[in-house]
Amino acid sequence: MSRKFIVGGNWKMNGDTDQIVEIVKNLTQLPLDPNVEIVIGIPSIYVAYVKSIVPNNVAVAAQNCWKAAKGAFTGEISAPMIKDVGAEWVILGHSERRIIFNEEDDLIAAKVAHALESGLKVIACVGETLEQKDSGITEEVVTKQIKALVPAIGNNWQNVVLAYEPVWAIGTGKTATPQQAQEVHAAIRSWLSTNVSSDVAENIRIQYGGSVTAANATELAACADIDGFLVGGASLKPEFVDIINSCN
Ligand code: 13P
Repeated sequence: MSRKFIVGGNWKMNGDTDQIVEIVKNLTQLPLDPNVEIVIGIPSIYVAYVKSIVPNNVAVAAQNCWKAAKGAFTGEISAPMIKDVGAEWVILGHSERRIIFNEEDDLIAAKVAHALESGLKVIACVGETLEQKDSGITEEVVTKQIKALVPAIGNNWQNVVLAYEPVWAIGTGKTATPQQAQEVHAAIRSWLSTNVSSDVAENIRIQYGGSVTAANATELAACADIDGFLVGGASLKPEFVDIINSCN
């Protein structure tokens, strides 16, 4: 089993030209662990610019895209456009898309299918709210979200990374404990083994996201089924490099 650790930065709707130059400078000043795959999720308007200034060992993602290649969809961007400007990834199904923009499983699945068909790699996000966690239905919620993606992914699992991001841990400073995160990651892998294939279950990389910092990354990274992180707030700071370099 060799799942290369993958650390994503999700800038969300943050950054301007000056700040981007600063963040990219931080990513070039220190050596980055070559055993860690790195991808940063950029606001769409800056994707091409960031792609033009990041080092080769840092891949670029968009944070969303539409489910068609082109057409009358004012305000949207497409997967072929993301590819055209040199980015390789797209983040789909983030809880902020699900909750603030009312994106449901079937729309997210259509986006995932189209992104993969267009040749992008996908970070597909799942996660439960605090209310759902407190009702004891975390695994049910998360596996239902993944189930909706299975037909959309088809034979393309090698181009997909799952990100388990409990909504209650995002931007709150309340990280899931390594035990909590490991339990859900193991449950996801077990569900995939039963419902997709043991091969997919073994090879899929599952990131944890939710208040990851340099202070908690090492302990989380040590969990058997945590194969990376999707980092929000800390990905805007020099600390992001420490997170990348503290995983192995
Ligand atoms: P924070 O790291 O700021 O909690 O955000 C996590 C996240 O939503 C990454 O996609």
